[in-house]
Amino acid sequence: MNFFEVLRERRSIRAFEPRPVEEEKLRKLLEAANSAPSAGNLQAYELYLVRDAQRRMALPRTALDQKFIAAAPVVLVFCAHPARAAAHYGARGERLYAIQDATIACTYAMLAATALGLATVWVGAFDDEAVRKVIGAREGEIPVAILPVGYAAETPHPTPRRRLKDLVREV
Ligand SMILES: Cc1cc2nc3c(=O)[nH]c(=O)nc-3n(C[C@H](O)[C@H](O)[C@H](O)COP(=O)(O)O)c2cc1C
Repeated sequence: MNFFEVLRERRSIRAFEPRPVEEEKLRKLLEAANSAPSAGNLQAYELYLVRDAQRRMALPRTALDQKFIAAAPVVLVFCAHPARAAAHYGARGERLYAIQDATIACTYAMLAATALGLATVWVGAFDDEAVRKVIGAREGEIPVAILPVGYAAETPHPTPRRRLKDLVREV
């Protein structure tokens, strides 16, 4: 798949097959996340890899009971690490760059998953503190996105988008 095919093929998938994700694919996915750009190359985020069944089962309760999270064999949780960015960039690093670093890393992982024939859904609706407890996040880390990863057990239609003429304002 070329890059534009990846963009076209990606869908949010909310039903997963029970089959595991191959180690080699998982490694490529994590390498893709790690290759994302970050402010000052500080990588002010942490990536939690959740394969443990008990922790996976606990995640839906932190996220409006979105049960499909636990059905994915792999769940990635991207946490901003504001202190890492603040050390260099002060308040802007703390408030903005750490969140952006975590977000773009998650985006890379999500697109890499599609390129590898895997399925994901970006989950943003959760209770920060509850997620922190389940993954054992350290002081100051803020969960930004949960990304269940696995093989799709559904084939949803593409979702619509705003028209470019409504979205883009040339100034
Ligand atoms: C910041 C963000 C938060 C999201 N949170 C959730 C969520 O909590 N649960 C969910 O099922 N989908 C969630 N999604 C997925 C969106 O619903 C989905 O991307 C959108 O409907 C477009 O569909 P598509 O991804 O198939 O193109 C989220 C997406 C983003 C970018």
